[in-house]
Amino acid sequence: MKKSVVIVYYSFSTQTAKLVHRLRKGFRQSGFQVETLKIVPCKKLSFPLHSVPKTILMMLTTFLRKRVKIRPVDKALIKSSDLVVLAGPTWSYNPSGPILDFLDRYSHLLKDKYVLPVISCRKYWRTHFNYLRKKIDSAGGRCMNPLVFTHKVKEPWSTIGTFMTIAGISPRSFRFMRKHYPRYGHNHAQLEEMEKKAKELANSIKRKSEPT
Ligand SMILES: Cc1cc2nc3c(=O)[nH]c(=O)nc-3n(C[C@H](O)[C@H](O)[C@H](O)COP(=O)(O)O)c2cc1C
Repeated sequence: MKKSVVIVYYSFSTQTAKLVHRLRKGFRQSGFQVETLKIVPCKKLSFPLHSVPKTILMMLTTFLRKRVKIRPVDKALIKSSDLVVLAGPTWSYNPSGPILDFLDRYSHLLKDKYVLPVISCRKYWRTHFNYLRKKIDSAGGRCMNPLVFTHKVKEPWSTIGTFMTIAGISPRSFRFMRKHYPRYGHNHAQLEEMEKKAKELANSIKRKSEPT
């Protein structure tokens, strides 16, 4: 029987989605059966926000861990899988609003499951991970070491560039940013790294017959 993984993910600005694509490829190439479960907010959240005040408001409300209500998920997919990947961005040091709502409503499904957190962020992921771990532990799940991917840009350019991108202002249209800000999000090498890590993890699971 093939081992099965379900990748539960939310992505606002496509960065987690790109990582998930490579993760899925890596697991599939290693002989795993992979299902993806995309978390969809009930009310559409459009990226970019095209507004500076809306961006500031989002940063503030997410700091307070405001939940974003999500559409119902396929519980059977989670129940039947050997490994659950929980992937999403950091929002103001916390898991994103849709992932918070997922955990509030569905964390009981993680009981006795190995859960692999995947985090996409600019830089600050520890509070996010600690929150996930607490929720997974208290649901009776087995939280694995997270796979964390940060944006490879120095500060303060990373913060400025991320803010501008979310607000819908192209950082590279400003000469001072072009010099310091190559892109928003993860680079090609990081996506390759994700695929490699997925294969390593899949092979280690097959060898030991359980995740570590
Ligand atoms: C509202 C908001 C708040 C954010 N806060 C943080 C943060 O506190 N720390 C951080 O490292 N990145 C932060 N980010 C950046 C995202 O985590 C990062 O851009 C991530 O790669 C986005 O992933 P996604 O495209 O899958 O949504 C924030 C992004 C948004 C939209």
